[in-house]
Amino acid sequence: MDEDLFRLLVQGVLDYGIFMLDPAGHISSWNAGAERIKGYSADEIIGQHFSVFYPPEDVAAGKPGRELEIAVAEGRLEDEGWRVRKDGTRFWANVVITALFDEHGKLRGFGKVTRDMTERRGAERVLRERRRLVGHLVDAQEVERRRIAWDVHDESIQSMVAVGMRLQLLAGRVPEEHRDAVNALDDAVGTAVTRLRGLVSRLRPPELDQQGLVEAVAGYLEEVAARWGLTAELHHGLTVEPSPEAAITLYRICQEALSNVHKHARAARVDVRLSTVDKGLLLRVTDDGVGTTAGAIDPGPGHFGLIEMRERAEAAHGWWSLSSTLGAGTTVECWLPALPDEDR
Ligand SMILES: Nc1ncnc2c1ncn2[C@@H]1O[C@H](COP(=O)(O)OP(=O)(O)OP(=O)(O)O)[C@@H](O)[C@H]1O
Ligand SMILES: [Mg+2]
Repeated sequence: MDEDLFRLLVQGVLDYGIFMLDPAGHISSWNAGAERIKGYSADEIIGQHFSVFYPPEDVAAGKPGRELEIAVAEGRLEDEGWRVRKDGTRFWANVVITALFDEHGKLRGFGKVTRDMTERRGAERVLRERRRLVGHLVDAQEVERRRIAWDVHDESIQSMVAVGMRLQLLAGRVPEEHRDAVNALDDAVGTAVTRLRGLVSRLRPPELDQQGLVEAVAGYLEEVAARWGLTAELHHGLTVEPSPEAAITLYRICQEALSNVHKHARAARVDVRLSTVDKGLLLRVTDDGVGTTAGAIDPGPGHFGLIEMRERAEAAHGWWSLSSTLGAGTTVECWLPALPDEDR
């Protein structure tokens, strides 16, 4: 009875093609999943050689026979590759062949389990492609920001500084009654230069290139904490200096997480922690603010901060997460591999 039930189970399973081969590779049983995946009914396929499932180039290369040999020698064989349906279309299959021996050690045949992985493979490919594109976009954005920062620094700021110096010279030479006006102009130029320096620094924090990630984050945290009236602390235990790409990614994620603390959290304190974990870099930004449910639900149109943090992290082959309790604060975590991935 149990065996009948078991046979019914195997016959009825739709997600897996489960069937048997005789020792020479001819199909001797067939289930509903195999029919669904490969398109043959049991009547059509039983008795045929299982190499009909392989593309012609694999058959020419002797792959079906070799797979059985390996299964006999090692007990089982797992393979992923293209297989052919009855209508000639191909699908991406995960295949496990198990050699079946009787109690005397004589080969009785093979059990074969086939899964159709086409959809999953397609979805993975789309995801990979998307990450690659986001990676390019993020890189392009950083290159552009850096270029603008250099241009503003080398041209606009330098010439305004020169204007300021001339104004100071002029102030010493003009008649008394014009001196205040010239000094006021000089002050205005000075204020504009300060603003532009702030802009340059936001576009491309110079500390990041000169002193590394920890210094850059420390400088930024100190500045915004004072401005936003937050008690802030930076803990760091980095044992490796991140690659320039990882450093800019972590810096940007930190910037957005802190800007969210300022905009939404109504927090009194924020802790930023940088550590080396699992051959990678872990950033954690914790606030003691009002918390949010936005991590679980779609924050709605026009809000890109959370999405951008996640996409940046994933484009760098890492992960990002937000956990939050209403009324008890929010933690943003992001982990990036320390070694840049090859396909990046
Ligand atoms: N630290 C936090 N504390 C409380 N709420 C937060 C926090 N971080 C994010 N949120 C909530 O999550 C929402 C989405 O954040 P997100 O950064 O995506 O958008 P935004 O900050 O509103 O806009 P943008 O970042 O595009 O300027 C916020 O509107 C806010 O409600
Ligand atoms: Mg935001």
